[in-house]
Amino acid sequence: MERPLRLAIAGLGTVGTGVIKMIQNNGALIEARTGRKVTISAVSARSRDKDRGVNLAKYAWEDDPVALAKREDVDVFVELMGGSDGPAKAATEAAIAAGKDVVTANKALLALHGQELAEAAEDKNLVLRFEAAVAGGIPIIKSLTEGLAGNQITRVMGVMNGTCNYILTRMENAGLTYEEAFAEADGLGYLEADPQLDVGGIDAGHKLALLSSIAFGTKVDFDGMRLEGIGAVTIEDIKRAADLGFKIKLLGVARMTGRGLEQRMSPCLVPASSPLGQLEGGTNMVVVEGDHVGQIVLRGAGAGEGPTASAVLSDICDIARGIRVATFGQPAKTLKAAPPASAASAACYYIRMTLTDKPGALAKIATVLGDNGISIDRMRQYDHPDEAAPVLIVTHKAAQPALQEALAALPQTGVLMSPPVALRIEDV
Ligand code: NAP
Ligand code: HSE
Repeated sequence: MERPLRLAIAGLGTVGTGVIKMIQNNGALIEARTGRKVTISAVSARSRDKDRGVNLAKYAWEDDPVALAKREDVDVFVELMGGSDGPAKAATEAAIAAGKDVVTANKALLALHGQELAEAAEDKNLVLRFEAAVAGGIPIIKSLTEGLAGNQITRVMGVMNGTCNYILTRMENAGLTYEEAFAEADGLGYLEADPQLDVGGIDAGHKLALLSSIAFGTKVDFDGMRLEGIGAVTIEDIKRAADLGFKIKLLGVARMTGRGLEQRMSPCLVPASSPLGQLEGGTNMVVVEGDHVGQIVLRGAGAGEGPTASAVLSDICDIARGIRVATFGQPAKTLKAAPPASAASAACYYIRMTLTDKPGALAKIATVLGDNGISIDRMRQYDHPDEAAPVLIVTHKAAQPALQEALAALPQTGVLMSPPVALRIEDV
């Protein structure tokens, strides 16, 4: 039997304590499966005195995560502190410099510094793994890097922020306003310390940027992503979309096009009957399409102690077994820089407007759309007690620049009572 695989765990919050509990509870099973005992040498967090609900008595303590990362009695540094810079980055760099493999759940760190960290690790024949960083307990990194390795990936998409999906689901099912649903998510402890990471689409964008890199063999390019959060989604749009047979989701989509790498994280309409449309609450879903495999749908808990620890253990077990896959599925130095696509691929759009109910108002709207080459597929005008007529238009496939031109021109018709709302309808 090989000598134990010795871990250092930096961060004893939700995920860190979850990992310790799993190792304490399932140690024998992990050893039987990997052929190697997994032990914890030392741990670190900010406060040594906090009761964390796990027995830490057998582990050495380090106040400084960088010192923890360099310890002689450690093979794998497990970074579970969070943050794109600061101690997480410093300790990860120190671990690699000291010749340790690294496992992290930190999407922000990898979305911003993944390329340099992966190159540094691979230069030393070390691995840097991050299953837990994307979609919590869903084994999407392993699926992409291993299970689907023989496929040309054509599209990766999904709902990767449970908090946003929870808020949107509560708005739809309970009729809450965005503010009410946000407050509820806050009360349940779902929001990140900086809630803008969730509702601004940044957290989900970090995750999509990592998946894109693996799927298309490109350098992680978070800056090249088109990001839009859910803050502007109204209960009215959710109801109107439902009326047309759609749900609104914060959807991430990545695909390689002739115009460059398209990466979008934005509220989109998806058919209510599709797997993505049926995804409720804080659950995540990732959909991958490959040239030979077709479409794969993975669904599961995107956050929380157990699911996230489960993903961290997947990486640890791989290292214990001697499985050493490159961070982004191929050597980091072979990843290509892909220019971001200048515009999203053509799509149907949902356009909601409030018009003054006067003769010729609709004709003016139709003219602007027609002048920009946008064809109307469906249109609906709802009952209204006064002059403000709610109108919905679903377009045929339209180029994004044409839609932008049309949206800019619509207010000049003089028949709009408020700015138009346009949402992409994603072909899923
Ligand atoms: P958390 O509950 O806030 O825990 C963070 C831990 O890091 C705490 O134990 C904290 O110490 C420690 N820490 C923070 N700064 C430190 C420093 N300078 N030195 C030493 N320790 C420090 O966070 P979490 O939810 O477990 O998340 C950890 C990582 O997993 C993050 O990257 C997060 O994005 C990722 N992740 C989390 C989830 C989830 O469901 N929670 C899901 C997927 C990925 P104290 O306890 O003493 O304050
Ligand atoms: N804030 C994230 C979410 C946690 O809501 O999905 C998991 O990354």
